[in-house]
Amino acid sequence: MIRRLLLAGAALGLFATPALAADPLAATGRWSANTDGSAPTPPMGWNSWNAFNSDVDEEKVLASAQALLDTGLVKLGYRYVNIDDGWWLKRRQPDGRMLIRTDHFPSAATGRDPSFRPFTDRLHAMGLKAGIYSDIGRNSCGQIYTPDFKNQPEGTVAEREIGLYGHIDQDIALYFRDWNFDFIKVDACGIRGLPADAPRVRSGLYRALPPLVDMQSLGGSDVAGIRGLYQQVGGAIRRYAGDRPYVFSLCLWGAGDVRAWGKDVGNSSRTSDDIQPIWTRMLTNFDTVTHRALYAHPGSWNDPDMLFVGTGDFDTAHPVEARSHFSLWAMLNAPLIIGYDLRKLTPELLTIFGNADLVALNQDAAGNQAVLAYDSDDVQIFAKTLADGSKGVAIFNRTAAPTKAVLTADHLKLLPSADVRLHDLWSKADSRFRGETTLTLAPHETRVFRASGTRRLANGLYLSEQTGRVNPAVDGVATPQADPTIHHSPTPWGGTRGTGDHPQYGGWGGAEADRAPYGKLMRVAGREYDTGIGILANSRLEVRNQGFTRFSAQVGVNDSGQKAGKITFEIWGDGQLLGRSPAMAFGTPAAPMQADVRGVAIVELVARASDGAIQPATWAEAALSR
Ligand code: GAL
Repeated sequence: MIRRLLLAGAALGLFATPALAADPLAATGRWSANTDGSAPTPPMGWNSWNAFNSDVDEEKVLASAQALLDTGLVKLGYRYVNIDDGWWLKRRQPDGRMLIRTDHFPSAATGRDPSFRPFTDRLHAMGLKAGIYSDIGRNSCGQIYTPDFKNQPEGTVAEREIGLYGHIDQDIALYFRDWNFDFIKVDACGIRGLPADAPRVRSGLYRALPPLVDMQSLGGSDVAGIRGLYQQVGGAIRRYAGDRPYVFSLCLWGAGDVRAWGKDVGNSSRTSDDIQPIWTRMLTNFDTVTHRALYAHPGSWNDPDMLFVGTGDFDTAHPVEARSHFSLWAMLNAPLIIGYDLRKLTPELLTIFGNADLVALNQDAAGNQAVLAYDSDDVQIFAKTLADGSKGVAIFNRTAAPTKAVLTADHLKLLPSADVRLHDLWSKADSRFRGETTLTLAPHETRVFRASGTRRLANGLYLSEQTGRVNPAVDGVATPQADPTIHHSPTPWGGTRGTGDHPQYGGWGGAEADRAPYGKLMRVAGREYDTGIGILANSRLEVRNQGFTRFSAQVGVNDSGQKAGKITFEIWGDGQLLGRSPAMAFGTPAAPMQADVRGVAIVELVARASDGAIQPATWAEAALSR
């Protein structure tokens, strides 16, 4: 009888107490951010959406592909040629095979089973890669949100279910094994917009799918459910791409707390809703990645959406804005995906897409997304440590007025007593300064330099100088919250109707480089630090050690915390405990910690809340050195 009760209890999950669950702070000795697929640097290429919306066809795509060759952009790395929404005709019944709109893609008319294989063969023969688009639900964004969408899928309700839901294995086998695509962008409207009471469900157009995503409610989104579906897609791609390199691009627009887990599942992950060719909308998209340097690594990048260089506020009549948009995406290691009809490419636009120095910043092998060195609503300074130890630096004037900005050697973690050499990546002019220099910025201008001088840390790297090797595996955010600091722009579809844009992009309180969580000042017991990692307690950072012998930091509770609650800091090397601090209280000066990490591949930094209250942990001056 007791045994029967126990079994029944187990079935109901009654005995699944947290005590039995694995300790998420236990060191694993592993790097857990995604490294599958092929994105050691941010993907580069072209996509049809910003240029053509759903009115895409083979001629337009191949013309832009040809332009990548003719202009030499392919040599700079623009290799992926991606079809977005609008390619599908229907899902054939009863076998479920996806059919292509062959009147738009004539080479796909290969008999009873249309195939993109001739199209991808053609791109591959041009030295390019081919990308396709799908949705994680049953239906696409165009079907759900756009009434006047060109090229809607046709047929019965079942035939119009062109998304992956229920067909992950079948579709991914078709796209990667049979059609030989190299890249897939997986959108998520189908798990967002089809509740039973949606007008298009009630009218019988589409089947209801209880939404997993609620853009306005992190609590109301089924984060585990969404993640599980994307993981299934990732698994299928691994199976069907075989040994071929691939890119898996998540398009969940910053919903479902994807900024915390997208890095573990795909090669890039959208952090916001769609970019528009409007200055303020570019700011919104940009702001969704600026505090998230620690969430981007070789193999998994933050994606603020595709480039709109060439259109609207970024067209040839607005070269300053066009250069700014491009510079910022390059600095933040965003995928550089051109969204312009390249048949219309002008020499002016080519100098932007083709700025090899900017592309080199974006594609730098170290894979460090730029870190905010100075922040305000008007001017921002971003610094990025490059593989050769030199720096990229961008000074960004967000405002419509000219301004002056002071750049200091400290922003770059270079010694103020020695010369800092600057090479302007737009004008190509060289200059030098000591201590600080004042720069003049036109309205909306971004000045970008490559900088070198005498490094403050001569024989190592601060962790915030190697964000590509630091992964907040557990970032201490227990309850996902939307970030209120992201620029709020009107949506083009709503304008100023209603009550406006509300915070909706998760990530508030996440781990930060050179700042405390919530963008606060890094300060312990009154002492300020300008470098370190700020992360909420009950967290675990994984750090790849590239041949350094010593880890050191000053650890303590950040002054932005509360009086209650202590933190114990631990350093682990390949799963072995190397050091543990006493329980540190609020207001106690930071304590030095160091560990011999010779031969250690993965250093783990654990911050445990020792009496339950959650505090911001500061790993000030955290560095790996020789
Ligand atoms: C959106 C997506 C866009 C584009 C569009 C197609 O959800 O964010 O980048 O793919 O769908 O309908």
